[in-house]
Amino acid sequence: MQDILRQLEAKRAAARAGGGTRRIEAQHAKGRLTARERVELLLDPDSFEEWDMFVEHRCNDFGMAEQKIPSDGVVTGYGTVNGRLVFVFSQDFTVFGGSLSEAHAEKICKVMDQAMRVGAPVIGLNDSGGARIQEGVASLAGYAEVFQRNVLASGVVPQISLIMGPCAGGAVYSPAMTDFIFMVKDSSYMFVTGPDVVKTVTHEAVTHEQLGGAMTHAATSGVADLAFEDDVEALLQLRRFIDFLPASNREGPPTRPTADPGDRVDLSLDTLVPPNPNKPYDMKELIQKVVDEGDFFELQPDYARNILIGFGRVEGATVGIVANQPMVLAGCLDIDSSRKAARFVRFCDCFNIPILTFVDVPGFLPGTAQEYGGIIKHGAKLLFAFAEATVPKITVITRKAYGGAYDVMSSKHLRGDLNYAWPSAEIAVMGPKGAVEIIFRADIGDADKIAARTEEYRQKFANPFVAGSRGFIDDVIAPHSTRRRIARGLAMLRDKQTENPWKKHDNIPL
Ligand code: HXC
Repeated sequence: MQDILRQLEAKRAAARAGGGTRRIEAQHAKGRLTARERVELLLDPDSFEEWDMFVEHRCNDFGMAEQKIPSDGVVTGYGTVNGRLVFVFSQDFTVFGGSLSEAHAEKICKVMDQAMRVGAPVIGLNDSGGARIQEGVASLAGYAEVFQRNVLASGVVPQISLIMGPCAGGAVYSPAMTDFIFMVKDSSYMFVTGPDVVKTVTHEAVTHEQLGGAMTHAATSGVADLAFEDDVEALLQLRRFIDFLPASNREGPPTRPTADPGDRVDLSLDTLVPPNPNKPYDMKELIQKVVDEGDFFELQPDYARNILIGFGRVEGATVGIVANQPMVLAGCLDIDSSRKAARFVRFCDCFNIPILTFVDVPGFLPGTAQEYGGIIKHGAKLLFAFAEATVPKITVITRKAYGGAYDVMSSKHLRGDLNYAWPSAEIAVMGPKGAVEIIFRADIGDADKIAARTEEYRQKFANPFVAGSRGFIDDVIAPHSTRRRIARGLAMLRDKQTENPWKKHDNIPL
């Protein structure tokens, strides 16, 4: 018995040593933590239950028979984050560059399968040189096994990828199919083909960072949801993020105690919207004043900034928030903002998270760039996402809700449960000036006439009452009471039941 215990300890120690001191020091020198250090930081102290520490690869080519490191480059298992169960895999760059062998992939698949069975999120900490080159097609098969599980798990358990080192080639497609991608600045990168191939094929000279660094994906491509300064910040923020998510599609949103009363009023909201309809204001202020304790976890803050998305809580329970941002492009919907918000709405709907929508939208952004880029299909994504969502949906129109964008932004007609408007709301086919220039085109040379007509149109339509008279909005509410009205609405909607007709799956305009 003593012997076997000694053997066990030696094997555990070998696994914990990963690729050895030299490689661990190299990892630290790059400002990165090791795979195990990351797991320790992510999970509650002493909560990690590690699996498959003794798994080794089965490759005998290229001298691999003599190089077997227990765990085979990925640390896997389960633990808790603030007491809630999560499954985790953390690739160990010190072991064959964290590359994915057949055995490494089997370990990842094992935690994914179990997470699906018990209903808990899967968190992947990615730091890998890609397919284990010595294994050839066996490692490609391993990737495909992971991809298949990413797809099956989609909408069943939340999947989150934190990219903490290289992630290149086909390997990017596993994170791409997860719900959220977080990256670490100056330390992680993602691309389908690296700078050398780019140089050969397109003659562009580009660095790893420019091509696929954290800020490239957080601000330019929209692939990443957030970029963090370093490993520690990324892992601590990930813990905060997990708190907002249900463990699976079988659960409602998590709740936690709050000292912030649901009926709190905020008088400063009464002056948030400026008297001049063309002046911007910061929609984020409204969000922060509505959610519990001002705690808004914003996603993609640097991408498509004309729309805001993220999580907050109302009376302790998670809500997803989508809001036009008048500070950027006047809050217009365009290709990027439609895609950004659509995917978020679908996540909320998959996981039973109520959606709050704050609307101030002058319409879709005009122009050839938008039309050639396919705004028709991309805008339709957001329309589709809101329309198919069966979770509680509460909408507040703060100012403009013009044209098709009025319909899109979780309107009554798309099964909005509660649709409120502030007194400053203008719900119309278009702004008064544009409308008059079309319907009174003959008078365009007569400035006085046009001004009078514009005023007439403004009086008639630039208010919430026409929509109110048809029941398209349920009430005109005082801005200061927004949180209270939303909190009551969410309580009323807690047991809402609506179903879409049976289908294999829908065909959202991709
Ligand atoms: C086996 C690998 C490896 C790999 C790195 N290593 N990548 N071993 N398979 N894919 C090993 C190195 O041999 C080295 O071993 C150690 O990991 C660290 O690598 P370094 O090159 O010293 O590190 P660094 O300079 O930081 O460079 C990291 C890197 C580079 C940029 C990731 O290693 C690299 O370019 N690797 C190859 C990437 C690649 O082409 N992968 C296959 C892509 S195709 P020692 O023993 O010296 O520590 C792919 C397809 C997926 O992934 C398809 C899915 C459908």
